Amino acid sequence: MRIHLDEAIQLLNDAHVVAVPTETVYGLAASLRHLSAIEQIYSLKGRPRANPMIVHVNHVDRIKSFSLELPPQFNELALAFWPGPMTLILPVNTSLIPSLVRSDLPTVGFRIPKHAVTLALLKETGPLVMPSANLSGKPSATSPEHVEEDFGLNFPVLDGGNCEKGLESTILCYQKDRWVILRLGSLEPAAFLSVLGYEPEVILKTDSSKPLCPGQLFRHYAPKAKLLFGDSIDISEVSFIIGFKERIYPKEKRIIHLGSLLNPNEVAENLYKVLRQLDQEKAQAAWVDMDFPSDGLWQTIRERLTRASEIK
Ligand code: TXA
Ligand code: MG
Repeated sequence: MRIHLDEAIQLLNDAHVVAVPTETVYGLAASLRHLSAIEQIYSLKGRPRANPMIVHVNHVDRIKSFSLELPPQFNELALAFWPGPMTLILPVNTSLIPSLVRSDLPTVGFRIPKHAVTLALLKETGPLVMPSANLSGKPSATSPEHVEEDFGLNFPVLDGGNCEKGLESTILCYQKDRWVILRLGSLEPAAFLSVLGYEPEVILKTDSSKPLCPGQLFRHYAPKAKLLFGDSIDISEVSFIIGFKERIYPKEKRIIHLGSLLNPNEVAENLYKVLRQLDQEKAQAAWVDMDFPSDGLWQTIRERLTRASEIK
């Protein structure tokens, strides 16, 4: 059910869960003031309780009011990238943020999204807890239709059209004496060079059973179809190919284009739509053309496709 801003404000203030657009992906929002609504997000998504949620606000002063101490260069990062697709993990005063949101960690991820309607919403509701608006493990939702696919036509969605970026925010935390990237996202690592004076190291998976970013533990972004890569695959076995406009693939296959090899922004915007399309078309398996660049946003695109291909 598509709803307007006023209705979204009312529902959130009345402890309901609402899907909300951001520039990255749609989020499932609950007010930080309503524990029952936060509980509901975990059950709606089928999300493990060990996977904490990002708190979204409309102003950096809100973040400062929750934090214990701000790491070096926090202000510079905030000024350069907020509102925008950056999430910073910060140590917080745990009495101010329910442990349900933090999965008992002493830290919280914060973000100021760059979306006019959602900033207007946050101004009225105060902080919103907001994971991506998809069933746990599935590709994120980048349009109202995707949200409805996962949660039904009656689920309230604040309609903001298609998400501009199509990939989640880049997550950073401060470790020892440096910022590091815990999740690749819409902001490429090189974007931080001019602000920090260095490119943050990317630490995606550790062997530890307690990774820095709990989301790394769980299967992600995956359609039902098996995704196959590489030249050694016998593609006579698959009827779907995911590839690029410029390339020529066997005509008898169902070819779904991610976009142009010259335009990683376009590919990022389309990625989850394409993965969801495989399910809509009831694909069993698809071969993915992974012969694309490795720099910048392509690195995130490759990581998402690789995660989506992992067997449960
Ligand atoms: O672009 C985005 O970030 C979207 C939009 C809606 O803002 N949100 C999003 O949320 O992707 P979610 O819940 O799907 O992913 C949040 C990730 C999870 O992998 C979680 O483990 C990690 O952030 N995270 C949250 N709090 C954390 C914390 N305190 N320490 C480490 N990782 C944390
Ligand atoms: Mg997610």
